[in-house]
Amino acid sequence: MKFLRLIFMLLFMAFPLIVSAEKAKTIDELAKMYDSSSCKECHEDIYMQWEKSHHARPLMGVKGGLMLTPLAMKGATAFSPDDPKKATAKNYPCFKCHLPQAITSAEDSVAVELTEALLTAADASKTDKEKADAKAQIAKLQIGCIVCHSDKAILHKRELGEPQKGVLYSSKAVAEHGDAMYKKVEKSIVMKDSLYCGQCHGLGPNLEFDQPFQCANLYGSYLHNYIASGGTKSCQDCHMQKGDHLIAPNWNDDKGSTELLKKALALDVETLGYDWLRKAKTYVSKVVVNTTITSTAGHRVPDG
Ligand code: HEC
Ligand code: HEC
Ligand code: HEC
Ligand code: HEC
Ligand code: HEC
Repeated sequence: MKFLRLIFMLLFMAFPLIVSAEKAKTIDELAKMYDSSSCKECHEDIYMQWEKSHHARPLMGVKGGLMLTPLAMKGATAFSPDDPKKATAKNYPCFKCHLPQAITSAEDSVAVELTEALLTAADASKTDKEKADAKAQIAKLQIGCIVCHSDKAILHKRELGEPQKGVLYSSKAVAEHGDAMYKKVEKSIVMKDSLYCGQCHGLGPNLEFDQPFQCANLYGSYLHNYIASGGTKSCQDCHMQKGDHLIAPNWNDDKGSTELLKKALALDVETLGYDWLRKAKTYVSKVVVNTTITSTAGHRVPDG
């Protein structure tokens, strides 16, 4: 009996150790866990498109604007920690969509390291090198190939289970896949569906947090405006033609974004100028301008 109890005790002691051993303690460990540099060798075009995409820099903001900085600063937002050393994933509800692997696969020490890096990058008293190093560390946190082709590729987990180790998921299965770590690609039923993108591209306010907030409502607008009005295309149809992983727009590329918006938004202006006879001998010049903006997007633009 005593022996059994000892075994149970040991089991309970060992279990949390095993669980925590699987989680990343540092930004480097988390980046390594989700490293997709091996994919470059065989999927070079896709890799290069992805590298330029917003998914490759989800915490960097537009043009390196590090939009998470207020969350790291004491008192600046309702989420900010009082002490950077005490930061946890709860201080960054943004992880839900900007870095989902930080919720499933990282210890709170990663939130501490991120908070310190954000504060260093914003600290005028630091040297340029210290600031650049802090930014480079944050840039390692990405929505890469593994996040999308593994973690996010199975939605109905009660029926289908969790994504398996060493397996990738895509719109098509590949029985023998050349990667050293991911030797198989299985078919995901959601990869071609807008619902897949909807996991992160938002339905409306995030009401599940103890302090609700809003970011990215585009999937809501797609469902309730575009689809409800008879739209038939998926996000992938419009944004990933021929497997394009840039998934434009890329807001860091002003020229490209302007061209895309020019194509997407048609502005039709009708004007009528006339002189209004206000009273005898008094004409007042008037103009009527009718503008119609038509969008070819499957949702409101801009989203926000
Ligand atoms: C040694 C070469 C090689 C490496 C390394 C490699 N792949 Fe592949 N991968 C292929 C080939 C070849 C195919 C296409 C097989 C086919 O169509 O029958 C493929 C297919 C795929 C597919 C399925 C595509 C579809 O049609 O839906 C995905 C997803 C994928 N790879 C992702 C990755 C990721 C992510 C990595 C890095 C972790 C990676 N690959 C590394 C060679 C490679
Ligand atoms: C429901 C998922 C979701 C959550 C939660 C979320 N975001 Fe976002 N966020 C997105 C998506 C998707 C985009 C890009 C697409 C868009 O703007 O429609 C985005 C874009 C942004 C942008 C504009 C682009 C940029 O990089 O500057 C900022 C700023 C931003 N998010 C900040 C935050 C912050 C801060 C939080 C946490 C308080 C947060 N987001 C939480 C999904 C989310
Ligand atoms: C934001 C999520 C996302 C990221 C990041 C991502 N993929 Fe994909 N990928 C998809 C989706 C969705 C499809 C399926 C598109 C379709 O079938 O219309 C896809 C399709 C593919 C295909 C099949 C392409 C084809 O021609 O049909 C390959 C190969 C692939 N991805 C490899 C990669 C590699 C390698 C990376 C990392 C460099 C990567 N993906 C990153 C979402 C992603
Ligand atoms: C894991 C969550 C996630 C998934 C899945 C995802 N996205 Fe994103 N996406 C984001 C985040 C976060 C950003 C904003 C990154 C930033 O702050 O710059 C973004 C940025 C974008 C952008 C750039 C425009 C902008 O405003 O930043 C487009 C376009 C986009 N996503 C389309 C898609 C499409 C289409 C799919 C499905 C094939 C998809 N995304 C799947 C999280 C995701
Ligand atoms: C009918 C085609 C079409 C469909 C369907 C579509 N989009 Fe778009 N999307 C566009 C066009 C066009 C633009 C605006 C032009 C541009 O800058 O690329 C755009 C812009 C965006 C942007 C930038 C938003 C901003 O703030 O300006 C994001 C993010 C995005 N789409 C994601 C998605 C996601 C996620 C889905 C599916 C839920 C989707 N799109 C469905 C065509 C489409």
